[in-house]
Amino acid sequence: MSTDISSGLEWPSDLAQTAGKVKAYIDETLRTEFKPAETLYQASRHLFKAGGKMLRPYLAFKACEAVGGVGDKVIPAAASLEILHTFTLIHDDIIDRDLVRRGVPSVHARWGEPTAIIAGDFLFAKVFQAASKGLRLRGVPEQTIVRVVETLAEATVRICEGQMLDMEFERRNTVSEEEYLAMVERKTAYFFKASAEVGSLVGGASLDMVGLLGEYGRLAGIGFQMVDDVLGLTADESKLGKPVGSDLRDGKKTMPIIYALSKANQQQREAIVKASHSESRETLNKALNLVVKLGGIKYAKAKAEAYVKEALAKLQPLPESQAKKDLQTLAKILVGREF
Ligand code: IPE
Ligand code: IPE
Ligand code: MG
Ligand code: MG
Repeated sequence: MSTDISSGLEWPSDLAQTAGKVKAYIDETLRTEFKPAETLYQASRHLFKAGGKMLRPYLAFKACEAVGGVGDKVIPAAASLEILHTFTLIHDDIIDRDLVRRGVPSVHARWGEPTAIIAGDFLFAKVFQAASKGLRLRGVPEQTIVRVVETLAEATVRICEGQMLDMEFERRNTVSEEEYLAMVERKTAYFFKASAEVGSLVGGASLDMVGLLGEYGRLAGIGFQMVDDVLGLTADESKLGKPVGSDLRDGKKTMPIIYALSKANQQQREAIVKASHSESRETLNKALNLVVKLGGIKYAKAKAEAYVKEALAKLQPLPESQAKKDLQTLAKILVGREF
């Protein structure tokens, strides 16, 4: 999804390296501890094996380095962010009735909903074990570990609030842009904020710096979700690794859909709403074409880009460094990505 600020950008060259370190720590954390419950461990490891962009761990690494910390110190916290993220995806796919995630069957599609619920709960507990144990071993001060754990818990509370709203909006015919923003901040953006905060806390940042990086994360996170909304309607499903079009089927009020509904006449509105809970490809395609025609995609892309520009401005007071440059690139990639 090329945009003005992201055209021609390459993904950060050290993203794969950082991801590798975090992956190794996650593998260690999720090793089978009790053989009779092997299925639980398999279900819990499933999505990690399938991949994932590992953007939140990268954000934590770079926030740590941008305030003068050593990135490797943040590995346990970065791993716990990815574990928390994956837990929310397992439950999200149950809620959204999506059968594919990261190009493989979602956990409930493969093992059934009860196992997926337990796997999610299990990972949620592992979030806190992974962070506190590993950070302590790396000599991170206890008071910082407490702050990290509080930040992770706070992000989870917000995600639950956001997911609740996201679900309730499905049953409504109109949702304002303001209501949408309150929802995506909670389900997505506060988690990016938390990732930046966790990284900068472990890096020993001043409160001011933690605040600035947190704001960068929150604003970039809003842009990220708006792009996710666009990709969820327009992307190549095999590239995206998750279903395209299911937002319309579920009656989701994403940014492009909200905008299109606000511009639609009675007949167009009915055609878009009709797609909700319809399994007919033709009805879905009709609704999708209307969302495009009414400018929903264009509007959401432009909005996403504006949020990322705001995020970039938050980085300005930080001292110049490679990590700062990487954070700038990351924000642009968040809106320029195609998967
Ligand atoms: C997907 O996040 C969930 C949203 C908040 C939109 P990502 O796009 O970061 O998913 P993975 O980890 O790369 O699969
Ligand atoms: C993203 O949910 C936020 C969480 C998983 C908490 P979505 O439902 O918007 O994201 P995708 O498109 O399934 O990844
Ligand atoms: Mg969802
Ligand atoms: Mg979903």
